[in-house]
Amino acid sequence: MTKKSIILGIETSCDETAVALVQDTGNDIPKILSNIVSSQFDIHKEFGGVVPELAARSHVEKINLIAKKAILESKININEISGVACTSGPGLIICLSVGLNFAKGIASTLKIPFIGINHLEGHALSPKLHTKLEYPYLLLLISGGHSQYLSVNGLGDYKRLGTTIDDALGEAYDKTAKILGIEFPGGPKLEEFVKRGDPNKFKLPKPILDKGGCNLSFAGLKTAILRTSKEIKNEQEKFDLAASFQKTIEEILNVKTEKAFKEFKKINTTNKYNFVVAGGVAANSGIRNKLTKISEKNNFKPIFPDLRLCGDNAAMIAMVGLEKYKVKNFDSLDLIANPRLPLDKNAKFLKGAGVEL
Ligand code: KG4
Ligand code: ZN
Repeated sequence: MTKKSIILGIETSCDETAVALVQDTGNDIPKILSNIVSSQFDIHKEFGGVVPELAARSHVEKINLIAKKAILESKININEISGVACTSGPGLIICLSVGLNFAKGIASTLKIPFIGINHLEGHALSPKLHTKLEYPYLLLLISGGHSQYLSVNGLGDYKRLGTTIDDALGEAYDKTAKILGIEFPGGPKLEEFVKRGDPNKFKLPKPILDKGGCNLSFAGLKTAILRTSKEIKNEQEKFDLAASFQKTIEEILNVKTEKAFKEFKKINTTNKYNFVVAGGVAANSGIRNKLTKISEKNNFKPIFPDLRLCGDNAAMIAMVGLEKYKVKNFDSLDLIANPRLPLDKNAKFLKGAGVEL
């Protein structure tokens, strides 16, 4: 029997140093042999956001140790690795470069293929680590830096249907949390506040709800949160504002997702309509519940990555690496980091003032 391919995945695009090993099984779902994520929350929390220089320095300090740990945990010998996959963008350029240099060093020492991975494609395909998933499917990618609806037509083949014209959803969660006095990154912790609040207490704006197709906008909502927070009189009202924010987000996603369903159906005819929600914010329980209901109502099957695969990790990078390895889609060691690497190369840049929707 021939040995099944094993891919080493490396992820250092922002504030997580992550290394994973994923093995082909010959079936649709690969096996995760190890998946180590070392977060830098403690380094950045006093600054209320990620400081690129500190993030890069920490990646340099930790990457070798994390890689050793991942290989040890996978119980394989380093010579069994078939290829090295590493995030090449989007992300912070000095952070991406740390992972890329490390990955290229391993690939050239072991004389195995090197594969650059789009971080967003890692998120896009992440449920494939546990679920059989056929193309095409509709994707809502919601993370700290991106909020997009895309038609996923195949490996490396994306059509963007909508995007945020200002802030990303993760950013809106983190900023709201910060305004409410929750430590960075506040998105996950905000859920605790939401549980204790009245979602109908504050009426907040839903920017571009009735225009702009399935494009999104969260900047006006963030400003409203800041303004409302100044009127808060007691602790309970903080919980109420968090719950009202969550309800508003759910309502925006409800309307925009129904629009995306229609857009997707216009360009795809398939007898199975799948809807994947991926990225860090896909861990949010309220969003999961709401989008499950709206999917079922519209005959789409909702698919979410396991919670541990929603946030940044290297298993998703290794898995995309494995798919590219199988079709011999390798990169040269000259590949450099691209901080703005898109999923849909033909999509127009929508950010900024004067956007025509
Ligand atoms: O995908 P990710 O780990 O990193 C990027 O590629 O950006 O996403 C991180 C974002 C952060 O903004 C974080 O606050 C948010 O995902 N996030 C959440 C939750 N868990 C993570 N937002 C809302 N609710 C959550 N449970
Ligand atoms: Zn991410």
